[in-house]
Amino acid sequence: MSVYLDHNATTPVDPTVWEAMQPYLREAFGNPSSRHAPGRQARSAVELAREQVAALVTAHRARVVFTSGGTEANNLALFGTTGYPPGAVAISAIEHSSVLEPAQALATRGWRVDLITPDPQGRIPPAALDDALTPETRLVSIMAANNETGVIQDIRALAALARARDILMHTDAVQAAGKIELDFAASGVHLMSLSAHKINGPKGVGALVVHKRVDLEPLICGGGQEAGLRAGTENVAGIVGFGAAAELARRALETRAAHTAALRARLEARLHALAGLEIFGTGAARLGNTVFFAVSGIDGATLLLKLDQAGFAASSGSACASERPDPSHVLLAMGVDRERAYGAIRVSFGAGNTAEQIDLFADALEREIAVLRRMALRESA
Ligand SMILES: Cc1ncc(COP(=O)(O)O)c(C=O)c1O
Repeated sequence: MSVYLDHNATTPVDPTVWEAMQPYLREAFGNPSSRHAPGRQARSAVELAREQVAALVTAHRARVVFTSGGTEANNLALFGTTGYPPGAVAISAIEHSSVLEPAQALATRGWRVDLITPDPQGRIPPAALDDALTPETRLVSIMAANNETGVIQDIRALAALARARDILMHTDAVQAAGKIELDFAASGVHLMSLSAHKINGPKGVGALVVHKRVDLEPLICGGGQEAGLRAGTENVAGIVGFGAAAELARRALETRAAHTAALRARLEARLHALAGLEIFGTGAARLGNTVFFAVSGIDGATLLLKLDQAGFAASSGSACASERPDPSHVLLAMGVDRERAYGAIRVSFGAGNTAEQIDLFADALEREIAVLRRMALRESA
């Protein structure tokens, strides 16, 4: 078994989550829209999960719309608020592809897409958002925390700027949820995306939290489920798992954050000692579980392969992008040069990681970097 250091890609389902889900895959199989007892049982399970997910982000349960995941939540936020006639959307250049691609699709429908560049630490300065807002801007989308660097944005300050101009504010909080405190009501955002599988819940379920004054158009029409905002018979077991995971994440937030931050400090102390190694975003507030770094002259893909062979599962950044040869768009937007961006490696911890695993990983990293450097020297000789 590999040492798993890729929790921003996905996390294992917690045993308590699995246990909560099981009845809804078996004996409690009713359709929540049915009026009979099995249907009512499924309905109350979905509604309890709605409360649990709402509590994780301090929202009212009626604001939670269950979706098939973070990707659908982001698509719903962008497409559901941008009807006709076209206007402009302002999004950060470091968004996940599930925001960037819908924005590109809007561009083909006549919308103007204003990309906001981060500072070299990966932060979106409020002044940069302010500059990007125009009378045509109808929606702002800026993520709460980045999946690659872990850099946390000042969502309250950014939302205040959008609100002051009567512009809708969406935040992709898929990575932030369960890792930092989120307060939907106090943050000033109108829309917030969440995903279960990043917080020890099952894959294929997420939510869009929607402010009551937002007039949202559904992407999927049909039987009127989710208050008409997302039709289709609910993924009851998945939703129950999401609820259980949200409850666990809320209760364990502080201890998990302290645990992963201690692991990060331990790893970074070792990384700082390695020549030519740069950790990205260290000047900004970051998620305690994420380290994104590059080593001069070392190809990240080769190093990842060596680490994988040595039994360590890390990543080159976004899981969805790791099949692509392109360097991280997040690092490029931060002004990191292409060569360095190609070398980038992301390590993201979870509750199950231990200090011993971090030490073993740091040893393996040192060893593999030395081997690759010796090989490069031999090739150039
Ligand atoms: C920041 C961010 N947004 C959205 C998503 C997509 O979520 P899902 O995998 O639930 O579709 C991810 C997953 O990698 C993510 O990291």
